[in-house]
Amino acid sequence: MPMILAANANAQGSHVGEWRHPDAWDKPAANIANAVRLAQIAEAGKMDLLFLADGNGVRNLDKPDLFAATSPSDRPGVFEPVTLLSALAMVTRHIGLVATTTTTYDEPFHVARRFASLDHISGGRAGWNLVTTSNPGDALNFSREEHVARPTRYERANEFAEVVKGLWDSWADDAFPQDKASGRFLHPDKVHALNHKGPHFQVAGPLNAPRPPQGHPVGFSAGQSETGKDLAARHSDCVFAIEGSLPAAQTLYADIKGRLAKYGRAPDDLKILSGVTIFVGETAQEAEDLAGALDDLVPVAVGVDYLSKMMGQDMKRYPLDEPMPDFDGRYAGPTGIGQAILNVALEQGLTVRQTSRRILPQMAGNMFKGDPIQVADVMEQWYRGQGCDGFMVAAPVVPTGLERFTRLVIPELQRRGLFRTEYEGRTLRENLGLKRPPDRFSR
Ligand SMILES: Cc1cc2nc3c(=O)[nH]c(=O)nc-3n(C[C@H](O)[C@H](O)[C@H](O)COP(=O)(O)O)c2cc1C
Repeated sequence: MPMILAANANAQGSHVGEWRHPDAWDKPAANIANAVRLAQIAEAGKMDLLFLADGNGVRNLDKPDLFAATSPSDRPGVFEPVTLLSALAMVTRHIGLVATTTTTYDEPFHVARRFASLDHISGGRAGWNLVTTSNPGDALNFSREEHVARPTRYERANEFAEVVKGLWDSWADDAFPQDKASGRFLHPDKVHALNHKGPHFQVAGPLNAPRPPQGHPVGFSAGQSETGKDLAARHSDCVFAIEGSLPAAQTLYADIKGRLAKYGRAPDDLKILSGVTIFVGETAQEAEDLAGALDDLVPVAVGVDYLSKMMGQDMKRYPLDEPMPDFDGRYAGPTGIGQAILNVALEQGLTVRQTSRRILPQMAGNMFKGDPIQVADVMEQWYRGQGCDGFMVAAPVVPTGLERFTRLVIPELQRRGLFRTEYEGRTLRENLGLKRPPDRFSR
């Protein structure tokens, strides 16, 4: 199985200074021409899929420096991702289209319907990234005073995923003959009403869409707590994971894969993609210079606000040039990402200022930097060393970062036999080496 390469399709890349760089796109907010170009670059590079993270709120109004400058993960001016991917489906042919949708502030019927539609529109290239919502403020847009507590979010997410899959199985694959001669549009004996009744949802079904071409659009999830990993092992085809070092990634990889047997699944039924920002230049110095130039575009106040956001703590309360606080070992943070940052800072003895600078390019988690050989070497090491099955690649500057990655690194990975030279499959599932779930009528 070749390495999986996903393109993190955030219009502002992954570095806080990105949009100000001379090579970055002008006016990246809600810009369809840019999105089309990015999709075409990734597809020309034979990458597996485009991935869009998402949320349902404008963040950081309480952090004035960061709010005005924005960071790539804030997304104050973006497209709704399934709407965008539906448009991109019409200008691409092979690449997978994966959008993030929350189980906390949406309904399973809506989600099943949206992704079934995207799968039909794209001819079997859709994927759903299940998240439980990282930003507490999103709750305020959904008739609530505060974020749903984590245990409830995960309980709801598990039931949500069951219902969505059940709805995708509403019809047999051949339930719609649409036969003009006999007058039979559909087979009444090939429909199944779900009649789900659970603690969080009551959903009768069936879904008003034929079974998706992939059976089930590819399921992603992202969450690194115990419950998050269990949910992935139970329901997901792919996990978007973030670790800052190979040993940590290997531990997480073994941990998640080790949970699959409990749910009657084989280790290969779930693929783990490690988030990474790739700084590649023709030479190592060129990559280094780009990273330095981007860091210099971020004033300290913006950088520390960004660290506060990632840690879920007001980091302006701590002295800039003293070591990162260890929060008395009690730190939990809003997502597993904060803990991962803290681990690196404590291990390397970084100050608050150094930590804030260190994470600027890190929205996608980790960073590989160098010339094409150096970058391919470390990717190979992670992949062969069972740190991951592939990568969620973010570009430091868009679109040049992705264009450079496809021009400089992908050919090197191909030369080593690590990555495809042509799309093998017709659907995203086939390209990822994932089985198609049979319909319930033939099971
Ligand atoms: C790598 C990664 C990416 C994530 N992407 C999103 C996202 O795009 N939108 C979102 O609302 N939450 C996102 N989350 C948040 C998770 O869905 C989850 O709510 C959060 O991580 C808390 O769960 P955990 O403790 O299991 O990590 C992401 C989490 C991780 C680890």
